[in-house]
Amino acid sequence: MKAYIQESFEQAYGKPADKIFFAPARVNLIGEHIDYNGGLVMPCALGNGTYLAVRKTEDNMFTFRSLNFPDSVHQVPVNTKGYTKQDSLWINYPLGCIDYFTREGATLSGLELLFYGNIPNGGGLSSSASIELVTTFALNTLFDLGKNQVELVKISQQVENKFVGVNCGIMDQFAIGMGKEDHAIILDCQTLEYTYTPFVLKDDTLLIINTNKERKLADSKYNERRATCEAALEIFNKTENFKDLCSIPAEYFEANKHLLTPEMQQRVKHVIYENLRVKASEKALKLGDIEKFGELMSASHKSLMEDYEVTGKELDTIYLESVNFEGVTGVRMTGAGFGGCAIALVKNDRVDAYKKHIEKVYTEKIGYAPSIYDVSIGDGTREI
Ligand code: GLA
Repeated sequence: MKAYIQESFEQAYGKPADKIFFAPARVNLIGEHIDYNGGLVMPCALGNGTYLAVRKTEDNMFTFRSLNFPDSVHQVPVNTKGYTKQDSLWINYPLGCIDYFTREGATLSGLELLFYGNIPNGGGLSSSASIELVTTFALNTLFDLGKNQVELVKISQQVENKFVGVNCGIMDQFAIGMGKEDHAIILDCQTLEYTYTPFVLKDDTLLIINTNKERKLADSKYNERRATCEAALEIFNKTENFKDLCSIPAEYFEANKHLLTPEMQQRVKHVIYENLRVKASEKALKLGDIEKFGELMSASHKSLMEDYEVTGKELDTIYLESVNFEGVTGVRMTGAGFGGCAIALVKNDRVDAYKKHIEKVYTEKIGYAPSIYDVSIGDGTREI
């Protein structure tokens, strides 16, 4: 892949790149809609992701190209005052990163940039966070900006929140910045303390099933869920002083849930018990109990389907057609939901039968085919 990127860079710009960087995509194994509620999540970085080849220039311009959009070139001048979001969508991610450092007072100079992503588009595997991390990492290296990896993670989240305008939590950027080969990250989203737990499968294969559904309403529904969680916390905090929903003991919630509207009760129930499922998952993985972990994955989907209501018929078809299929250890949606991808742990000798089954029933019920990929768990953002 490195040779291909190098060659493509020379073809596009006529000179070799100075450096090449890579940031992965991510999946979340368990702990969904938890990061913005201050609890525990368990994501990992993937082998696929975004490549960025860069060369410093003397022309005081940032020139953006992407092998994914071969017909377009975008140029913006080096500008010490900062930038505003542009109409053309994809360059806003790198431009937001440049904007961040520019406003912080960093001295940047012209660059030729060439991006290439092999993350399925719109699949909810965080291609946007991957572009942000590869860009902040590259700028930090090229201009000696002195940030550590966790700082780059936080900067990338700020770019997404403030420049791109999507109100996401910290999980995606953290997983992409800090991933480790064959390990899941257990991240406390309140303190940003983290540990790694080995995620090495013997009898099972981890698959990604892309619904291939267009994720149109995802952002507005996502914001709605966040607002409901905040409103529920405020109600409890009229008499208590909880930092976030994940700090609320299950016993307290059960004794006081009547204070909330029925809808809020459902949402908070998911959050509190999902956070406990992450703790139980950590324990199961440490004991090498993949069956238990699979059960927790499936319980997570059920809760996201029935209580948090962020799944939809595409993801639920995958779940319902998988959960009792022979050889499936666990299955759940991953990421924000409303389309995007599901993940499944399937016994190695049942993978072919499983793929055939899901492709057939999904296409029959939904009207178009899903895409199914095998996944490897890789390292975080780096120079290659
Ligand atoms: C999206 C957001 C994350 C997280 C997940 C749900 O991927 O970007 O911050 O909230 O949804 O777990």
